[in-house]
Amino acid sequence: MKKFPIPESLQRDALLDNETYIRLYQSSLLDSDAFWAEQAQELITWDKTWDSVSNCDYDEPRIAWFEGATLNVSKNCIDRHLDTRGDKVAILWEGNEPGEVRKITYRELHKEVCRTANAFKSLGIAKGDRVAFYMPMVPELAIGMLACSRIGAIHSVVFAGFSAKSLEDRILDAECKLLVTANEGLRGKKTLPLKSICDDAIGKDSPIEHVLVYRHTDAQVQMELGRDLWWDEVVPAQESDCEPESMDAEDPLFILYTSGSTGKPKGVLHTSGGYLLYTSLTHRYVFDYREDDIYFCAADIGWITGHSYIVYGPLANGATTMMFESTPVYPDAGRYWDIIERHGVNIFYTAPTAIRALEKEGTSWPAKYDLSSLRVLGSVGEPINEDAWLWYYKNIGHERCPIVDTWWQTETGGILITPLPGATELKPGSATRPFFGVAPCLVDDDGKEIKDRVAKGRLCIKQSWPGQMRTVYGDHKRFKETYFSEVPGMYFTGDAAERDEDGYYWVRGRVDDTLNVSGHRLGTAEIESAVNHSKYVVESAVVGFPHEVKGVGIYIFCVAEHDLDDVEVATKDVKATIRDIIGPVASPDHIQFVGGLPKTRSGKIMRRILRKIAAGDTENLGDTSTLADPSLVDEIIAGKQR
Ligand code: WTA
Repeated sequence: MKKFPIPESLQRDALLDNETYIRLYQSSLLDSDAFWAEQAQELITWDKTWDSVSNCDYDEPRIAWFEGATLNVSKNCIDRHLDTRGDKVAILWEGNEPGEVRKITYRELHKEVCRTANAFKSLGIAKGDRVAFYMPMVPELAIGMLACSRIGAIHSVVFAGFSAKSLEDRILDAECKLLVTANEGLRGKKTLPLKSICDDAIGKDSPIEHVLVYRHTDAQVQMELGRDLWWDEVVPAQESDCEPESMDAEDPLFILYTSGSTGKPKGVLHTSGGYLLYTSLTHRYVFDYREDDIYFCAADIGWITGHSYIVYGPLANGATTMMFESTPVYPDAGRYWDIIERHGVNIFYTAPTAIRALEKEGTSWPAKYDLSSLRVLGSVGEPINEDAWLWYYKNIGHERCPIVDTWWQTETGGILITPLPGATELKPGSATRPFFGVAPCLVDDDGKEIKDRVAKGRLCIKQSWPGQMRTVYGDHKRFKETYFSEVPGMYFTGDAAERDEDGYYWVRGRVDDTLNVSGHRLGTAEIESAVNHSKYVVESAVVGFPHEVKGVGIYIFCVAEHDLDDVEVATKDVKATIRDIIGPVASPDHIQFVGGLPKTRSGKIMRRILRKIAAGDTENLGDTSTLADPSLVDEIIAGKQR
């Protein structure tokens, strides 16, 4: 395959060239502790240095970095920049309406974070307590997260596309004492009733003692006396100074829930020192970040990309980081390009699903805007197809900007496999090579590492890196079972990948029953258990199918309780049930009522067959002879065509 060369300007002045990458990569694996100690000295301001750099054992599993060291994350993201960057914009916010802008300098951010930290304290929050956030994309979300880190509280941000029930589950699992929300959120023409969803998420045994409500719109909302407080009545009155709590490197920074193939979502726990080092180092090198850059990551802070690459990585590096509240198609499909032109964005990081959606709107949108400020483009969340890659490369980057296709996960904390702008020639669709300190490998079905250069297998990582998750909150056994039991001695990613003759990795997608819908991870088991709550459904099977824009779409096969009088009513009920239990984020694309699910004689659902039917690939169903009732398959196919 043709490789796309490194643009000339980057060959001249990028932070890293290919030789340096290779040299540093080798040394990062040969003497990992020495490499990370050096980076930790350079990038992080520690209150006290470490006794040991790493203390990791994948068999137990135990993962610890910089034990004995202390630091404060908010001090690293704010205070240490005040002398040199006090008047520099830290957070550049663009609201729902074009041109609705807030600029918060590092000095202002310091004051706001201190006030908010003091407000949290006044509400009884202390070191180690958990604080839940159910917020729109407003600066107060980042301010609140940093305020937690200032006093050693642990944040748990819940994406605002989840339902009250999902929020409640997450609040209960982490026993959060405080919930921070807004009266309403805005996304394009939609208004999200965030406060009222929060009310539904707080049952009578809820651990939540207070709800702090940011007034984002003029809407009036119910406030429960004694429990609910307005942000603007509590925060501005606080002292604008708050001494940062010196935390152990291994003290928790946050919990972020993510779906797996079985059971309830897991609380992925990240700690302070290693996470901050890893996100700041990757932010610097992967995006070839320079001091005066305007950096725009278009993710939502409700997901890991927003945590690591809107908040922590960029702020640790003293960057100007953009936060965008709206959608890429509001008021029209030119919104991202308009933002890039108006703010002079240099680095733009988004997801393939957004690129595909905008590609459908045509090239006339980006053509209207001056995109010449762009230097580096990024992609994250799912494999990027060649078509979308080329469209992005040509119409947005004008063939001058490398696309860093960054592969990573909530669990990895930061980017693990990625091109580097000045060092890596690109191949559309490949995340290319590992970042420093990352040792990927491919493993066959017997759990053995495949040593051949060109190979295909399950993607594992052989040794720890500082940004790795430390445990599943409250369930270390599940941590071990999910990530370290599949292939003993290795971290199992759950992805399948290929390696080509250049040693480039091509991540192909999940091997477990996790769906990656528009770059959002959802468990099929989680969706099925929601669907089964519908009064019309006795049993269901959820599979993914290739979707033009979302990458993967959700297809649900439902078995009805009895003959349905009205399939439409039942379908609506299934949709509403999913909305209530998981949230709009899991809205299905297809629901089909069937007479039964294809099962083996031992009663196992043959998902392989359902996946093919959902994809419309019915010519090639493979062996169906082990099915208890093979005639069901024809019935399902016929039902789909109707
Ligand atoms: C997928 C998002 C291919 C992958 C940061 C992974 C990707 C899951 C890429 C994690 C990429 C993410 N190429 N696949 N560049 N980036 N993935 O936890 O399947 O929301 O396991 O983290 O997304 O999703 P998560």
